[in-house]
Amino acid sequence: MVRNVAGLLPELEDEDFYLLSGVEQGMRFSEWVQREKLPRFAGLTEEEVDYRLERCLKRGLIEKKTIQYEGYTLQFEGYDLLALRALVQRDTITEFGSPLGVGKESDVYEVRSYKPLALKYHREGYTNFREVHKERDYTADKEHVSWMYTARKAAEREHDILEELYPDVSVPRPIDQNRHAIVMEKMEGVELSRAKLEDDQVLGVLELLLREVARAHEIGYVHADMSEYNVFVGEDGVTVFDWPQAVPTEHDNAGEFLRRDVENLIGYFRRKYPQHVPDDLDEDEIASAIEDETFETVTALLE
Ligand SMILES: Nc1ncnc2c1ncn2[C@@H]1O[C@H](COP(=O)(O)OP(=O)(O)OP(=O)(O)O)[C@@H](O)[C@H]1O
Ligand SMILES: [Mg+2]
Repeated sequence: MVRNVAGLLPELEDEDFYLLSGVEQGMRFSEWVQREKLPRFAGLTEEEVDYRLERCLKRGLIEKKTIQYEGYTLQFEGYDLLALRALVQRDTITEFGSPLGVGKESDVYEVRSYKPLALKYHREGYTNFREVHKERDYTADKEHVSWMYTARKAAEREHDILEELYPDVSVPRPIDQNRHAIVMEKMEGVELSRAKLEDDQVLGVLELLLREVARAHEIGYVHADMSEYNVFVGEDGVTVFDWPQAVPTEHDNAGEFLRRDVENLIGYFRRKYPQHVPDDLDEDEIASAIEDETFETVTALLE
């Protein structure tokens, strides 16, 4: 679990951030950045580096190790602060709020500018990386990029995909991205898994969702992690979120992923609302219709 670092912003000084971004720069070359290299990476004097290292260590933003040499590495908390500060400096975020969700591979917080937004810090590769690398020789590092690189790539990817899909597909509007963080509009409503649909809404909501799947496919993407946990249902309809793993429709396995997405959705509705989902609804037929861009309504396929 990564701590919420927003409260540290007011007490940190510019030089603390020079140090943090100095460590970040050094980490392009090795996971543990040598102490001697920091003045150059950070643009600070020797004395200033020592003073800033202490302040950042004390706040858990960096970690120190003395194995073959004295080295420093960023903690996710330090990386979060670098991203958060960049987003604040460009006025994307003016207020920080409470957690909206802790996913397997992300932390999501409510933030604000002139309206409510959601800030998602990607955490891909974090846990795996820590376990795999615990016992490693830190100088032999080809994979040092790991968590920082993986998390940043996931955020860039999710932001790019949202930009391509919005507004044709009902996804959260993307606002900004920095490092491993993306900012998007805050969705209203609740997760489909927690929604209690009325009898006369069930088939309509399923159909809305399949239409979003079809529209995303037309634009060129298959979500590939479609489930009741990645869909919001609100007054104004449905929103499909959590896109970093989406695959282009040209991908070799796109057809397989599309079928799984359709099966996941329909399977969920069948389990939760058995009396409202027609038995003869054919997942494979729906997936094929989506591929052929002929999908219109569930009822049309049943006729
Ligand atoms: N734009 C948003 N507005 C409001 N809440 C959001 C928004 N984006 C995400 N959330 C909340 O945060 C949770 C985690 O988000 P998301 O599913 O994108 O992350 P994840 O870590 O990839 O999830 P998973 O557990 O599926 O891997 C969501 O279930 C949702 O409750
Ligand atoms: Mg999710």
